[in-house]
Amino acid sequence: MPNKTMTAEEQKKLVSHYALNDLVSRGVLRSGMKVGLGTGSTMMPAIHVLAQLLAAGKLCEIKAVSTSFETTIACEELGIPVYSLNSREISGSLDLAIDGADEIDPDNNLIKGGGAALLLEKIVAYNADQFVILADESKAVPNLGTRFPLPVEVISEARTSVTQQLIRLGATAAVRYGVKKAGPVITDNGNIILDCLWPSDSKCNPKSLEGIINEIVGVVENGFFTKLRPTVYLAHADGTVELR
Ligand code: A5P
Repeated sequence: MPNKTMTAEEQKKLVSHYALNDLVSRGVLRSGMKVGLGTGSTMMPAIHVLAQLLAAGKLCEIKAVSTSFETTIACEELGIPVYSLNSREISGSLDLAIDGADEIDPDNNLIKGGGAALLLEKIVAYNADQFVILADESKAVPNLGTRFPLPVEVISEARTSVTQQLIRLGATAAVRYGVKKAGPVITDNGNIILDCLWPSDSKCNPKSLEGIINEIVGVVENGFFTKLRPTVYLAHADGTVELR
């Protein structure tokens, strides 16, 4: 009987276990591959499953590229070798990237960056041959940008000028503040985050906004991921996993 009451945390563990094993059994994730590993509370159990597959000999010689300090620490603790994207072993391109997401629309466009790791996540995903997203069902939405704020990574000196231009694009923009840290969140790359929301009745167009926002001077990157069509594994509260 399906469990009808799985919490989001339980769904994250379920989708991690299901997806990693499915990727191995379908030959999408194979020994010797160069694999980008995303960041966040869905990727943490996924990295544990990856370590279990390596320990069980179902995979070997995986070369991981990390997208954050959090993911690097997890890999180091679990014995998964981490390389720079620039290293001779990786040479700037990956076979596969696996990550979580904050919002997923019906075309599998994404918002990412709830954990402020969007810059490295996008560099890794956009340089991978295949991109796979693991998520619980709360992440599936009809349209992006009106519920979960779009993170925009900004050089701190450009905070006010970028905010004004984001407002001209129809958004509200608020500096993200730290928890157990006074002042703004500082990303792994030394920048700040502006969290942007569009009104629910607006015509927020992520495909065009991804490029338009990045043209604003002082913006480093934004969390719309619209140039890839990832494979999405979506866990549901009834204990099933949908592949879409
Ligand atoms: C990290 O900056 C994000 O892009 C995460 O991948 C995204 O926020 C999903 O996080 P959770 O898996 O914690 O929901």
